[in-house]
Amino acid sequence: MKNLNLLDGQVLPQIGFGTYKLNGSEGVHAIVNALNQGYRVLDTAYNYENEGTVGRAIEISHVSRDQIIITSKLPGRYQDYDAALTAIQESIYRLNVDYIDLYLIHWPNPKQGKYVEAWKALIDAQKAGLIKSIGVCNFTQEHIETLERETGVLPAVNQIELHPYFNQKEMIQFNKEKGIVTEAWSPLGRASTVINDENIATIAEKYNKTIPQIILRWHVQNGVVPIPKSTSISRQIQNKDVFDFALTDEDLEKIDNLTQPDGRLKGQDPDNYEEF
Ligand SMILES: NC(=O)c1ccc[n+]([C@@H]2O[C@H](COP(=O)([O-])OP(=O)(O)OC[C@H]3O[C@@H](n4cnc5c(N)ncnc54)[C@H](OP(=O)(O)O)[C@@H]3O)[C@@H](O)[C@H]2O)c1
Repeated sequence: MKNLNLLDGQVLPQIGFGTYKLNGSEGVHAIVNALNQGYRVLDTAYNYENEGTVGRAIEISHVSRDQIIITSKLPGRYQDYDAALTAIQESIYRLNVDYIDLYLIHWPNPKQGKYVEAWKALIDAQKAGLIKSIGVCNFTQEHIETLERETGVLPAVNQIELHPYFNQKEMIQFNKEKGIVTEAWSPLGRASTVINDENIATIAEKYNKTIPQIILRWHVQNGVVPIPKSTSISRQIQNKDVFDFALTDEDLEKIDNLTQPDGRLKGQDPDNYEEF
């Protein structure tokens, strides 16, 4: 699998593994399987209430800690500077590790006006060695420009909602210009209608691949890191098996053209939507 370079010198494999809803012993089982299938980026969050599950899976897997890139996220309710630093430590304790590889602000919650304060806490936690890379989720161009203006430090990663029905072309381009890697959350549209799309089905037939594989390959060729979640070993294997073919420019464009202005799964526009 290809690696992408982050602006802070770290590297990120081009497909990660989402862990939302993977909790308890079943979650441990799914995550251990993902590690055994070669996934190395694990995406959790304080608010998924499964950092313990992820930590346990890492502990019982045969993959060494330094091969794994753990991502977690700061909840909106802890955006005050001191609260953010405590939350980061709590994430580390629950994961049962000494440091987190990538820590992201989960939502900007712009009406609260605290994401710059939270960002300063992430910068200091990185300096203290608690976190290797720092980034954001669901940040718009304006939010990122504010971080840069106020702190001079750009996020290494911006993780955003991104799938064929909401392709975020402008945001990807903006991130690219700033040297920020775009990660795609719900890269398969959370298995909604997009994974039965007729246009993508036609393309899938041509390459002898599944619709999810075509979608994930489209992400990869757009320079994006998708983080699909799956409980099933066969689907975990399928989702990683997208590096032995390439979509033509014409097919990439056909998928690009499926985007819809209101294509968000749940209308979570980060300018208005808040999560705590
Ligand atoms: N930063 C944020 O605000 C944010 C928001 C949402 C999500 N995320 C992260 O992004 C990750 C991925 O997003 P997501 O979990 O919402 O959705 P997703 O990965 O797009 O889709 C997951 C769904 O697709 C199914 N699936 C996976 N591979 C499949 C395949 N090859 N064929 C058919 N179905 C397949 C899964 O079912 P099975 O499990 O049964 O295979 C599951 O129902 C999350 O787990 C989380 O880590 C971040």
